[in-house]
Amino acid sequence: MTPEQYKEALTKICGHRKMDVGAKYIRHWDQFWLEKNYCIDLMKERNMLQGVNSILEVGAGIGMLGYLLKQEIPGLDFEHTDTDEYLNEPIYKGACDLLNSKRYSLYINDSQPMNLPRKYDMLVATRTVFDRECMPPGVVFNYRYWLDDCFKYVDKVFVKTNYQASGKGFQDYIRPFLFFPHGLGKPRRGWYIIVTKEQWNNRVER
Ligand SMILES: C[S@@+](CC[C@H](N)C(=O)[O-])C[C@H]1O[C@@H](n2cnc3c(N)ncnc32)[C@H](O)[C@@H]1O
Repeated sequence: MTPEQYKEALTKICGHRKMDVGAKYIRHWDQFWLEKNYCIDLMKERNMLQGVNSILEVGAGIGMLGYLLKQEIPGLDFEHTDTDEYLNEPIYKGACDLLNSKRYSLYINDSQPMNLPRKYDMLVATRTVFDRECMPPGVVFNYRYWLDDCFKYVDKVFVKTNYQASGKGFQDYIRPFLFFPHGLGKPRRGWYIIVTKEQWNNRVER
């Protein structure tokens, strides 16, 4: 499916539901397309896709990143998740069905195991908001626990967080793995976490 065919198919799925969750991706197509393509560029620049044959995307939404990853890695073994709330939401469901990949429900809770059903080469998540949706006000998400848990299943993790400001909220142990594209505006700006299992295991915490 070419990008043009993909956009046409998503537009059809969106149909008259112009204000439903997910429809904003069609209304602001260029913006989301730019963001997701930038993620792919960044993954390539950091050699994150080298040797990768299986990927889990957490909180896929309409699945645009999955489409691009599948274009990038022919034959990719790709699975994705959404929370129960979104799993059967018509636009998300229709759009993800297009990818013809296994999709299941996952809700990440702070400091609790994800209990993924299998291993993958890489886990990706963009603007998945688990680091704030499951949190009581004022409590900071425990990325140390979460990354330890991730690396039971995968060798690489790529996250675009929803944080775009100073990044003061991130704890010291995660700073070596943070990236912020200074000079770029929305939708690419934001704090990214890019880390391999080896880098994580060899980190030195002060
Ligand atoms: C704003 S959408 C982002 C969708 C897509 N990744 C994107 O970048 O366009 C937020 C996603 O986060 C997921 N999500 C929200 N809270 C979550 C949690 N606690 N654990 C796992 N996924 C969560 C939802 O399923 C939803 O797909």
